[in-house]
Amino acid sequence: MNKTIVITGGAGFIGSHVVRLFVNKYPDYRIVNLDKLTYAGNLANLKDIESKPNYIFEKGDICDLDAMRQLFQRYNVDGVIHLAAESHVDRSIRDPFTFARTNVLGTLSLLQAAKEQWNGNWEGKRFYHISTDEVYGALPFDGTLFTEHTRYDPHSPYSASKASSDHFVRAYHDTYGLPVVITNCSNNYGPYQFPEKLIPLFINNIRHKKPLPVYGKGENVRDWLFVEDHARAIDLIYHRGRTAETYNIGGFNEWRNIDLVRLLVRTVDRLLGRPEGSDEPLITFVTDRAGHDLRYAIDSSKLKNELGWEPSLQFEEGIEKTVKWYLDNQAWLDEVTSGEYEKYYERMYAGR
Ligand code: NAD
Ligand code: DAU
Repeated sequence: MNKTIVITGGAGFIGSHVVRLFVNKYPDYRIVNLDKLTYAGNLANLKDIESKPNYIFEKGDICDLDAMRQLFQRYNVDGVIHLAAESHVDRSIRDPFTFARTNVLGTLSLLQAAKEQWNGNWEGKRFYHISTDEVYGALPFDGTLFTEHTRYDPHSPYSASKASSDHFVRAYHDTYGLPVVITNCSNNYGPYQFPEKLIPLFINNIRHKKPLPVYGKGENVRDWLFVEDHARAIDLIYHRGRTAETYNIGGFNEWRNIDLVRLLVRTVDRLLGRPEGSDEPLITFVTDRAGHDLRYAIDSSKLKNELGWEPSLQFEEGIEKTVKWYLDNQAWLDEVTSGEYEKYYERMYAGR
């Protein structure tokens, strides 16, 4: 193995796609998946690669500085791709402290462990921090886009914690010279997303004819990107992105929530052999999310111009693929929502 990369949060939604890509594409890299296995972490997401010789799973908490120091020493780590986080806005509104702990203090522990281990020998080292477009706040309906120069203006406890972690990452570069790179990505969709997020939640609800709780009037806009396209961008930027730079990643693919929900209804109905659109009466307008950001839209032209990255899938194609995946993987959804998988991991990792 000529390089060791720690991927944090590798048992989560995006992390599992990144781990899969790196393990398969780089057999000469040792990939260490460091994950606490919170409710959002699920090793079943990685069944297809778990026995590969270049893959190692380590259960651990990024907030535990001593454990992070030991991990960096044990594996003589060359690089970090840091995805571990509390990621759901609604949960952050109910429980902001958990978000500050994991997203801010956890990131700080990793930065400190990397700095101590590398100790000024930065050659071949990289700390890649995965962030979100939500740090930029909200856009009006005027066609403007978030660029890498947009002022930070987070509104939710989640986005405030991510913004804070981004500032710590830049501070470790500016103060100590740590070789960092940051990306801010738009909304991801695809297989293995925890069904508390809009797309998997609504696919599952349509299938089971349960209400579809659309916040407010459904007019908020999100910019959707297929998760494997995000993973490809991460690969490119890990290897070729410039140190201390920020890159925005997005699909140039804006959808009003209500239009997206109607597309989901039509797609699920068609794939289940129901009359297309017949489940629209499930749409239920509910109280809006507190501080609900109106519109996100990313300008990813820097990434395209510098590194040639572009999304590979048209949205309708990506949605079709995604809906099919959830319909074909009801057992995964049931396991994740029943909490069975947590017991499974407790048994599997007892005593580690
Ligand atoms: P997720 O919630 O699906 O997964 C998070 C993972 O982190 C889980 O496996 C969880 O067990 C792990 N984790 C949580 N706390 C931990 C801790 N203290 N120590 C170790 N592991 C811990 O999240 P996701 O949607 O895959 O997002 C991954 C990253 O990408 C996050 O940093 C998020 O802010 C960012 N992001 C997400 C999106 C999106 O649309 N989902 C978009 C842009 C950026
Ligand atoms: O923009 C990137 C962000 O995208 C990531 O940083 C976050 O980790 C990720 O969770 C996601 O945040 P959102 O809040 O945009 O995603 P969510 O799927 O929760 O909601 C998408 C939109 O749908 C949002 O406008 C709120 C709305 N919504 C969501 C749910 C769960 C509803 O109307 N009803 C719902 O039940």
